[in-house]
Amino acid sequence: MAYDSDEHYQRLAETYERNWADRPQYVAWMADKIMEWLDPSPGARIADIGSGTGLFLSRLMEIASADAPIICVDPSQPMLDLLPDDPRLTPLCATAEQIATGEIKMPVDTVDAFVFKEAIHHVKDIPGTLRGLADRLNPGGRILIVSLPPRLHYPLFKAALDRFAGGQPEPDDMAAAMHDADLIVDNTIEEFSVTIDREHWINLVRNQWMSVLSTFSQEEVAAGIDEIRDRYPEPQITYADRFAFVRGIKR
Ligand SMILES: C[S@@+](CC[C@H](N)C(=O)[O-])C[C@H]1O[C@@H](n2cnc3c(N)ncnc32)[C@H](O)[C@@H]1O
Repeated sequence: MAYDSDEHYQRLAETYERNWADRPQYVAWMADKIMEWLDPSPGARIADIGSGTGLFLSRLMEIASADAPIICVDPSQPMLDLLPDDPRLTPLCATAEQIATGEIKMPVDTVDAFVFKEAIHHVKDIPGTLRGLADRLNPGGRILIVSLPPRLHYPLFKAALDRFAGGQPEPDDMAAAMHDADLIVDNTIEEFSVTIDREHWINLVRNQWMSVLSTFSQEEVAAGIDEIRDRYPEPQITYADRFAFVRGIKR
């Protein structure tokens, strides 16, 4: 991609959680869905890849312990620095690719689950990385990808929606890659309805909260905000936040 994602997350790290702080229902919904799709046993070893600040880990932390902590993998140290200071979380500064190839070792050789929540789009070789990670799963272990589908229903300006679609992996392609890695695959869309104050939304866009927005100049974003204002005149905006859930289970 054209933007420097490390720089993007460094800049965003301090405001990332504040963006979602007024959406506790969404955070709880997502944490529940991840729990439901992973269905981990107590003591299961879980690695959250592209964990960021660990915003969606609350439910998984219920089954983690200091002896079996969640391994929070992220190449951005500023994001990892914002993880809660909790013995049930172990930060590891690495990319998905470095874990998949073994270039950087996890504290354990194999895990019961890898979770990617809105991080898979940063991975360049998705099939190769998923294959490498599948080799590091225990029997019955799972890889869960939660990813925005290419076509968003967000109230963004058209150029941003189009550019986002061009850079986002197709859920069916990720499902096929898991299948090729000899995993048993499920693939569906889960939907959460969002109502947001229009001015708050516009502030998020101005702050370039999505990485795709940081590929636009300030002038382009300002023009995009005018387009949003025209298209969404009401003080509140409602839209469907849709997520692809793609899961592979090792035989
Ligand atoms: C949109 S954030 C998602 C953070 C967290 N999972 C969440 O949902 O709140 C994407 C994260 O992926 C990380 N990332 C970027 N490139 C990566 C890579 N190659 N492998 C793993 N994570 C990566 C970023 O540093 C960032 O923290």
